[in-house]
Amino acid sequence: MTRFNSAALLVLSTIVSAVSAAPYSARTAQCDRTVLLAATDAYVAAQTAGLLTPLQPFLASNWTYQENNKIISPTTGVLRKPLKPDHRRTNSDLLQCATYTELVVADAENPYVIGTQLRLDVNSKVRVIDTIASTTGSWLFDAKKTLQYVQQEIWAPIPADKQDPRAAIQAAGDAYMDMWNNATADKAVPWGTPCVRLEGSVYTGSGKPDDSCKPGIPSNHSQAGNTHRRYVIDEAMGSVSIFCVWEHMMMAADSHEFRLEGGRLRFVHTMTTCGDRVCRL
Ligand SMILES: *[C@@H]1O[C@H](CO)[C@@H](O)[C@H](O)[C@H]1NC(C)=O
Ligand SMILES: *[C@@H]1O[C@H](CO)[C@@H](O)[C@H](O)[C@H]1NC(C)=O
Ligand SMILES: *[C@@H]1O[C@H](CO)[C@@H](O)[C@H](O)[C@H]1NC(C)=O
Repeated sequence: MTRFNSAALLVLSTIVSAVSAAPYSARTAQCDRTVLLAATDAYVAAQTAGLLTPLQPFLASNWTYQENNKIISPTTGVLRKPLKPDHRRTNSDLLQCATYTELVVADAENPYVIGTQLRLDVNSKVRVIDTIASTTGSWLFDAKKTLQYVQQEIWAPIPADKQDPRAAIQAAGDAYMDMWNNATADKAVPWGTPCVRLEGSVYTGSGKPDDSCKPGIPSNHSQAGNTHRRYVIDEAMGSVSIFCVWEHMMMAADSHEFRLEGGRLRFVHTMTTCGDRVCRL
């Protein structure tokens, strides 16, 4: 059987979806971006040093560390490897008090592409670190190539009057994630032009104005779905990060991030890891 802790995951995603289902307005931010970013900077400092020390002042006493969909001890995870990021981008969810950070470590000796969702509690302390850590053996993995592609892309903040509603951003990501087990979901994806997917290290774009995200999307809609979804939504970035169990590929741990511009899908980034095994279709 797979190695993730299904019961623990279920609890976690239930808590998270209870939060996302709460009534909201995009304008009623509940968390301070500066506080979120300070905690996230501390997380990145901890990952860079391979030490929990920089994070200690930001952690809730009962915080949980989850890596590749399993709750584990932080002392046995990737967080204890010193990894110097060559690329970092952080998105903030001011309603859920959460952030999503994309890290690329191109070091040939120790390559990683890591996605991390942090969730803060009412006291502004980190209560969950949820990490998808892809490395050699992960789906389409090549950190050097990934770095090259992410550095070409422009993810500029979207001016307030051009931002898409939070619900629309999430719905776009969910419709995309639904394509594996729902025959009509692709009609609900607001495909944009240009649009580019970065799947592991494989890039569907060529920098042309007519780049499309549609080639290679699932044609079999009877596969296992993408479950246990956890969200971080940032209207100013037009983005939603969705972590899930990628059931149709060896129950892999998966991160999908979507960016919308003007209501249309512009970028998709994925990280998919099968733990100690090499990911195969
Ligand atoms: C963790 O501690 C906080 C603050 O004391 C509390 O509100 C929360 O319920 C605790 N969570 C768990 C899972 O025990
Ligand atoms: C399938 O996707 C469509 C479009 O997003 C949605 O309206 C419908 O509810 C979905 N069906 C199921 C069973 O989830
Ligand atoms: C679609 O996926 C299901 C579940 O993996 C599989 O049983 C079925 O054979 C696939 N259908 C096609 C046409 O590949």
